[in-house]
Amino acid sequence: MHDFFYKGSELHCEAVPVSLIAKRLGTPFYLYSYSTLSRHLKVFDRAFNKYPHVICFAIKACSNLAILRLYAREGAGADVVSGGELFRSLKAGMEPKKIVYAGVGKTDEEILYALKKGILMFNVESSEELRAIDRIAKKAGKKARVALRVNPDIDARTHPYIATGLRDHKFGIPIEEAIENYRLARKLSNIEIVGIHKHIGSQLTEVSPFVDALNRILILVNELKAEGIGIKYINIGGGLGITYNDESPPHPEEFAKAILPLVKDSGCTLILEPGRVLVGNAGILVTKVLYIKKTREKNFVIVDAGMNDLIRPTLYGAYQKIIPAKKRKDSTITADVVGPICESADFLAKDRKLSLPKEGDLMAVMSAGAYGFTMASNYNSRPRVPEVLVKGSRIFLIRERENYDDLIRGEKIPRFLE
Ligand code: LLP
Repeated sequence: MHDFFYKGSELHCEAVPVSLIAKRLGTPFYLYSYSTLSRHLKVFDRAFNKYPHVICFAIKACSNLAILRLYAREGAGADVVSGGELFRSLKAGMEPKKIVYAGVGKTDEEILYALKKGILMFNVESSEELRAIDRIAKKAGKKARVALRVNPDIDARTHPYIATGLRDHKFGIPIEEAIENYRLARKLSNIEIVGIHKHIGSQLTEVSPFVDALNRILILVNELKAEGIGIKYINIGGGLGITYNDESPPHPEEFAKAILPLVKDSGCTLILEPGRVLVGNAGILVTKVLYIKKTREKNFVIVDAGMNDLIRPTLYGAYQKIIPAKKRKDSTITADVVGPICESADFLAKDRKLSLPKEGDLMAVMSAGAYGFTMASNYNSRPRVPEVLVKGSRIFLIRERENYDDLIRGEKIPRFLE
């Protein structure tokens, strides 16, 4: 559970009224609870504590330096998918030996950067990438630790845009080609095989796809063993879902109970890459009602946050709860909650029943801690919003609001136009 709750009629984050932060900072802003962030990591970690494991937080979910530092201090590593994410993780103090690097399109420069930093391993997604890593490692006089990311052809039963483990997805090496790729890896002199990786999708609400995928991977691990190819790490990826509305995803304990018996005799260290389950419900987006517009067809609650700030409803049709920062006893309204962006897809909620707000009221879009700020853009030349962390009664600005100068930084008008 999380630490956003009403005290009287006022929504609080831990001991701080949300409206107080709005008064100081303006709106919109992302707001995270330290206590939720920290507890979620501990609960997840505790669920696996009987077995050797490394938690590599999938920083694409939420990559603010302060939050990464918090997780680094609590012992987590990082799952990264770009040179930029690696840079952030290191800046925040993540240990290179707890960083794993996935992604189908690593560039030569990114591979070299990761090699120089001595990350725990690359999660390799094709034979082409394997050869590239070997070539770059040779040039750099390094040996690259790798796991092959295997695509187990398992349906994650989630939104198609966030499923990754079916054979027609771009991710990983098809399971039937895995052995030949491990054989190739063994031949490459600057590659050291250390692990196997899979990640079948995000926002999974049942354990069975995880179990089915892991079983397929374990068969492979045994086949590899028979060929003399030893695996030290089994990385089962991320993907555990959270409650946005009425989903009831497995608790981390239940998840661990399903996973641990399967790996317990493998002799391997387990790597986990949770993202959303740690941070999703630890953050909200606070926005202000600008206008309430009623047309013959529909009601619109127009707010100052848009799809550039939080794209999940637009991109995945995702449901995120919207609640008032101050409860009113008044009546309700059914409306689309929309932003100021010039797109009909700019909505935070569709046909949503809300307690009738007034202009100037603050609303909280819940469960916005994962894939919220990290997917924000400057579309329509909108400065990105600040991020705030609350710990008890203390308020920390962990990312400033961008200004208009930030919007044009790096842009240049060529001489001939001067
Ligand atoms: N590991 C790998 C290799 C991944 O690609 C991902 C997420 C994770 C771990 C973490 O998954 P999680 O535990 O957060 O489910 N933007 C989408 C989600 C995209 C997930 C991409 N990969 C959304 O807002 O729902």
